[in-house]
Amino acid sequence: MIEIKDMSYVRLGTPDVDGAVKFASEIVGLEEGERDASGVYMRSDHRHHTLAYFDGDASDHTTAMEVSDRAGLEAAAKELAALGIDVHKGSDAECETRRVKAFINFGDPSGNSIDLVLRPYHHRARYFPARDAGITGFSHIGLRSSDPARDEDFWTKNFNMRVSDWLGSCGLITFDQVHHRIALFPSENPGVQHINHQVETFDDVMRSWYFLCDKQIKIRFGPGRHPTSTAIFVYFEGPDDMTYEYSTGVRMITDPENDRPRQFPPGPEAFCMWGAMPDIPEFQD
Ligand SMILES: [Fe+2]
Repeated sequence: MIEIKDMSYVRLGTPDVDGAVKFASEIVGLEEGERDASGVYMRSDHRHHTLAYFDGDASDHTTAMEVSDRAGLEAAAKELAALGIDVHKGSDAECETRRVKAFINFGDPSGNSIDLVLRPYHHRARYFPARDAGITGFSHIGLRSSDPARDEDFWTKNFNMRVSDWLGSCGLITFDQVHHRIALFPSENPGVQHINHQVETFDDVMRSWYFLCDKQIKIRFGPGRHPTSTAIFVYFEGPDDMTYEYSTGVRMITDPENDRPRQFPPGPEAFCMWGAMPDIPEFQD
């Protein structure tokens, strides 16, 4: 069993790094951290970075999760290899690019690039964005899957992941008390489907909704409230067609032994308690 401790970062290729950084800073409300030949590191909390943009193909996405110690990383490499999965051990230069002490990379059954990282760098200074969106940190992703049931099995059988709820065929899975850390959405291509940042209050979601409307940023869903996680949300369009989400009030599952995952019906209506309808292809079933 591979034990995940935390979500770490997402790395996104983009043909326009400066444009993506400008959007992430001025619209999303992330802080531009270090910038070097390997990319630009964006901060959302106390860590060195939780999102990195690099010059590359816009479909080149990697999601990183943290393991607790070196023995756990080495055991993970062995377990994945025993499943017949190609495991790449990060070189010193690659570790420096990711700002981690060590990592391995592998592809999940849908072909999503996943880093398991050891000791990702923290930052000497607190997060201080140019725009105050009320962000408290990077929290979860939507992950594209060519077969959500198969990928749910992969994550729940080989990792300390469990299902919190299902929305149609989408499994909402987690490794800690947060309702979900990964949402597996049916998709023809691998990749990150959306990136969530938690914000402090309902007021922050609504302030951002007005702000985004004023800046003529395309709203893809919301404001609304998910019946699954109870989070109040707004989703909007970012560079390279990526969807970014703010949410607040995500349900914490403090007693997972006694919490039964619920099946919500397929279809876009099940995504919102208030009746908001998503303009997001993967949220239709
Ligand atoms: Fe989300």
